[in-house]
Amino acid sequence: MLREVLEYLNPPAKGVAVDATVGAGGHARALAERLGAGGTLIALDRDAAMLELAQQNLADAPCIVQFVHADYRNLPEVLHELQIEQVDAILVDMGVCSVQLDDPERGLAFRYDAPLDMRLDREQATTAYHLLQRVKLHELVRILREYGNEHWAKPIARAIIRRRDQGRMNTTGDLAAAVLEAVPKKFQEKRIHPATRTFQAIRIAVNRELDDLQPAIEAMASCLKIGGVMCVLAYHSLEDRAVKHAFRNLSQRAREPVGVGGRKSEPSTKPVLEILTPKPLEPSEAEIQDNPRARSAKLRAAKRVA
Ligand SMILES: C[S@@+](CC[C@H](N)C(=O)[O-])C[C@H]1O[C@@H](n2cnc3c(N)ncnc32)[C@H](O)[C@@H]1O
Repeated sequence: MLREVLEYLNPPAKGVAVDATVGAGGHARALAERLGAGGTLIALDRDAAMLELAQQNLADAPCIVQFVHADYRNLPEVLHELQIEQVDAILVDMGVCSVQLDDPERGLAFRYDAPLDMRLDREQATTAYHLLQRVKLHELVRILREYGNEHWAKPIARAIIRRRDQGRMNTTGDLAAAVLEAVPKKFQEKRIHPATRTFQAIRIAVNRELDDLQPAIEAMASCLKIGGVMCVLAYHSLEDRAVKHAFRNLSQRAREPVGVGGRKSEPSTKPVLEILTPKPLEPSEAEIQDNPRARSAKLRAAKRVA
């Protein structure tokens, strides 16, 4: 949804924009071209390897690009360090890139037998291996249900823990094998690999992708100039829910208190955001054909108004 993102963000020439999840730099390049010479793009990624790739891909960008290895949940601190007060546009394109999924060493895909890593930030101590070594059954069932929408959460969690206790939970191959052991053959889907949801759920848990998301989106909105726009692309219903609630929170006036004699007094706070997408935008069929990963994308945009 590059076209829609650019239409909403519409960063001014010579302005300042943030790509909070630069990835391979596709959206960032389009933003950089809009900002042009004299503009500044702040490009964040939690994954140092992606940041390096983005740096190569954006080497000839027409504007200044500042690359920062950081979690977007720390955007206010990052901007403070850079002595930038407020920005014209912020883009958050959540989740992971295909470059990361296709790297056998990252342990994010069941297609390759690799160590159980799954960290986006390799400086983080906890890997998927560590998480699975210490997780309790009920917690693993919750992770698989909540983050993976996995119908077979309980049998899969049991199979994972059984294998772990036998010392057979060391690689992505072991994890995929546990899923295949747990889901009866006749219920194994042909369209998507039966381990897809389990891998997604464990990746989200390892990287704590949903933690503090709503306050983080609210804090990011406070980094916008008045008139500045923020776009968020979410791929998971819980991510999208956090964005929806954050935008709604900041776009509603505080409840008007009833004044003396039943007369309503002035509202005590003004809305900070105006929601530009009452319903989230979804990709077209053509876009899904082109990029099947976009299937679950939801785009929300909001403008700072106070
Ligand atoms: C879907 S990709 C972004 C693709 C990018 N828009 C492009 O055009 O190439 C998501 C990126 O966000 C990064 N990421 C995920 N969570 C993050 C977080 N909390 N803070 C910063 N970066 C994050 C991932 O490492 C990945 O590189």
